[in-house]
Amino acid sequence: MSDLRSIVRGVGGYLPDRIVTNDELAKTIDTSDEWIQQRVGIKQRHIAAEGEFTSDLAVHAARRALDNARLSPDDIDLIIVGTTTPDYTYPATATLVQNKLGMHHGFAFDIQAVCSGFVYAMVTADSYLKNGMAKRALVIGAETNSRILDWTDRTTCVLFGDGAGAVVVELGGDGERGILASSLRSDGHFWDKLYVDGGPSTTQTVGHVHMEGKEVFRHAVGKITDVVENVLSRTGYTVKDLDWFVPHQANLRIIQGAGEKLHIPPEKVIVTVDRHANTSAASVPLALTEAVTDGRIKRGDLVMIEAMGGGFTWGASLIRW
Ligand code: ACO
Repeated sequence: MSDLRSIVRGVGGYLPDRIVTNDELAKTIDTSDEWIQQRVGIKQRHIAAEGEFTSDLAVHAARRALDNARLSPDDIDLIIVGTTTPDYTYPATATLVQNKLGMHHGFAFDIQAVCSGFVYAMVTADSYLKNGMAKRALVIGAETNSRILDWTDRTTCVLFGDGAGAVVVELGGDGERGILASSLRSDGHFWDKLYVDGGPSTTQTVGHVHMEGKEVFRHAVGKITDVVENVLSRTGYTVKDLDWFVPHQANLRIIQGAGEKLHIPPEKVIVTVDRHANTSAASVPLALTEAVTDGRIKRGDLVMIEAMGGGFTWGASLIRW
């Protein structure tokens, strides 16, 4: 194993052009802007165009991350896509991204950990880089959640949106920068609290999102704070040392609840859920991209990313930017 760390060299995000506001949703289902904003802090979401697939969103984000890193696809030898809405049952969306980027070299695969997909993908890329299997990775979270929503079910369809975010990760740095520690967890006991009721082996259909919202809420804050504290305790850092907290953007009340329990000041918390809604595996890289692009996250900052989602799965990584 190398002593070098996996450092983030570039970030990029992509949101489909079409924006759907809460008021627009209220024209077709029995909901209101007030209810949605008060319960989950969402004002709008982006929805992919007909014929625009998860791999298309992923490629846009990947190209932007490569530009940001001043690299080309030739410089990448590993692609991991965290997604729960793949283009096809198989092959992996990551291989479609590889093809669209014109790559014949390296290797590519998907990770299915629902909203925790990007954190799982980052940890996986970190392992491959450290054990010498790859030199430089594109780690992508990409989703077309709109394709698995029941648009007549007001309890779920108001919560999600489409989008993609990507980072370029490479081994290097001066020993200070990079992924410092990570923690991943899952507990399949809770599989049916948040699931999509279809699949090749069960129904031969894609299915729709089903969620016991109160149960998800009840577990979210505790599970998030557990992994964040676990990661911090293994590095010797404390919450006070964090410059930025970049949580999965499921719901403003969950984000605020975790921030309060961890005693992280709100001004250190990156929030995009109001404009993006829950983009599942794409939410953390999209939030990272926004905060890096607008100059909040700077080189040398201590950044905690975390996510929790269906499975349940949850995890966190501490990154010296
Ligand atoms: N608009 C208007 N009314 C609604 C809507 C809506 N979109 N959705 C539900 N309601 C109604 C319900 O039908 C119910 O009406 P009733 O009392 O007449 O039966 C009422 O609002 C209250 O419903 P509850 O389900 O009890 O509402 P709750 O306070 O639990 O809030 C919510 C629901 C916002 C989903 C909450 O449970 C929550 O935030 N859960 C976390 C879920 C989440 O964020 N999931 C994201 C995916 S998981 C992840 O990424 C971590």
